[in-house]
Amino acid sequence: MNYIGSKLSLLKFLEESINKVVDKDCDTFCDLFAGTGIVGSYFKKKDYKIIANDIQYYSYVLNRHYIGNHKELNFVKLIIEIPDLKNIDVRNRKTFVCNHLSDIKQLIKRISDFRDARDWKQFHNPKDCAISLALEAAEVLEHFQWKNPEEIKKYVETNKDEVSEELADVLYWVLLMSGDLNIDIVKAFDKKMLKNAKKYPVNKAKGKHTKYNKL
Ligand SMILES: C[S@@+](CC[C@H](N)C(=O)[O-])C[C@H]1O[C@@H](n2cnc3c(N)ncnc32)[C@H](O)[C@@H]1O
Repeated sequence: MNYIGSKLSLLKFLEESINKVVDKDCDTFCDLFAGTGIVGSYFKKKDYKIIANDIQYYSYVLNRHYIGNHKELNFVKLIIEIPDLKNIDVRNRKTFVCNHLSDIKQLIKRISDFRDARDWKQFHNPKDCAISLALEAAEVLEHFQWKNPEEIKKYVETNKDEVSEELADVLYWVLLMSGDLNIDIVKAFDKKMLKNAKKYPVNKAKGKHTKYNKL
């Protein structure tokens, strides 16, 4: 949570200033008027025992979570899907799971496991996959068809989940095709972005939607 008055951007300065004056053996940090709990949770990570107070209930909830909650998530049920999790210390599991779930190779594996469990590979030749990719992209378009800019703005705000699903479907086919065609999609993306940067140099393209060959 962020709001005017949060000390988020002052944390380093606070730490340096406090370190200049407090005793090295001091092990307790008092976060009075704790608000978002951003200060206490920062110093909790530095191994201080934290005492926090605030008159507001929102702050109590945040501080129960950031300061009072010492439970680590085990992700036990995910061990079947991610066997490597067994070898990860419980304290590092949350980061490991987040990285795992957003790792492109793992996403491709997840898609191909999903497909293999349904025996759908037999239908997935490049032509039909490309058709499916184009169809899903068209479903993204469908959300905006016949709407004026004002209606689109409102629509996106109230239908974010639906639009997200269509984008996820497009990503599904992009990743599935890249896996099947043995294309390193991260490398390909990087290469294409460098190419785009050359095609559309900032000094020529800034603020214009002109095609590169007409710049
Ligand atoms: C500027 S905010 C705290 C900022 C906080 N350090 C942060 O970075 O999020 C001030 C907080 O003081 C709390 N507060 C105001 N008067 C209080 C009082 N008499 N007793 C306890 N908390 C109080 C407010 O509820 C508010 O959350």
